[in-house]
Amino acid sequence: MLLQQELIRIIRKMRLRGASAVELSQANRRVLGRRPALQPTPAPCPMPTEEQKQRAIQAFVQSQRPAPPPPPAPLPLPANPGAPPPRRDSTAGFPPPPDVSQATWEELIRQCQGCHCCRLGATRQTLVLEDGCRQAPLMCIGEGPGAEEDAQGVPFVGRAGQLLTAMLRAMGRDRQSQDPATAVYIANVVKCRPPGNRNPMPDECTPCLGYLQRQIALVQPRVIVLLGNIALTALFGRGGITQARGNWREYQGVPVMPTFHPAFLLRHEKYPRDFIDLKRKVWNDLQLVMAKLKETEPGRP
Ligand code: URA
Repeated sequence: MLLQQELIRIIRKMRLRGASAVELSQANRRVLGRRPALQPTPAPCPMPTEEQKQRAIQAFVQSQRPAPPPPPAPLPLPANPGAPPPRRDSTAGFPPPPDVSQATWEELIRQCQGCHCCRLGATRQTLVLEDGCRQAPLMCIGEGPGAEEDAQGVPFVGRAGQLLTAMLRAMGRDRQSQDPATAVYIANVVKCRPPGNRNPMPDECTPCLGYLQRQIALVQPRVIVLLGNIALTALFGRGGITQARGNWREYQGVPVMPTFHPAFLLRHEKYPRDFIDLKRKVWNDLQLVMAKLKETEPGRP
């Protein structure tokens, strides 16, 4: 038995040194043959390299993270267009918006066209980025495209757009003009149509905010008009358009006038007294804007 154990010890040692086969004499085979089959000794495990260790740690850490959830399915159109949209406040599952803080117009357009940072990217027909003149001293910001804007790729071309165009014309501004003296630049908070013309949700506005901020920085308007609560909230983090309208604010040194959205006015069309009252209020706000544009004309003392 002692001989057998000694033989096993020697064979194991040889294997540990890397021997893949061991030559045995007939006598030694006989000695070994008297014991149960020798369990194969596992080959020595080579020490992992630093790189292999890091890879293993990474694989382990990643396996602990839950897989990112798939992007949510686009919201179905509400059966009743008047019903409040289902609440979904999450950007989870969507890529983060790109940093466009230094983007040129071309880069900004390219980034917006490829944007799928919220659920609206899956349902839009056309990206709706801008209209008017990029050198205009006046910038108007609405909330987001409706069906007609989505079809044409131009903001404010539906009924609310026609009312806005008329308001601008009354201010001496022409949407087709490329002359800064009469031009206007128009944009929206969100660049893709919310299905069913519902209001954009906060988690749809947030990823778009960088695009709007870059539009403002590139246009460098002398005055901004915010049309409605969504635009007011996007730029200042708080709504309350009824209180805010008619009062100057400042956004990064630019005077900002919040006022009612033209679609809000149109919703009161069937109540002539209200409609006239709201139009009067908006006109007051726009007159303040006209005065500010005059005051801030380059070369004026
Ligand atoms: N309402 C908006 O806020 N923007 C548009 O482009 C159209 C309607």
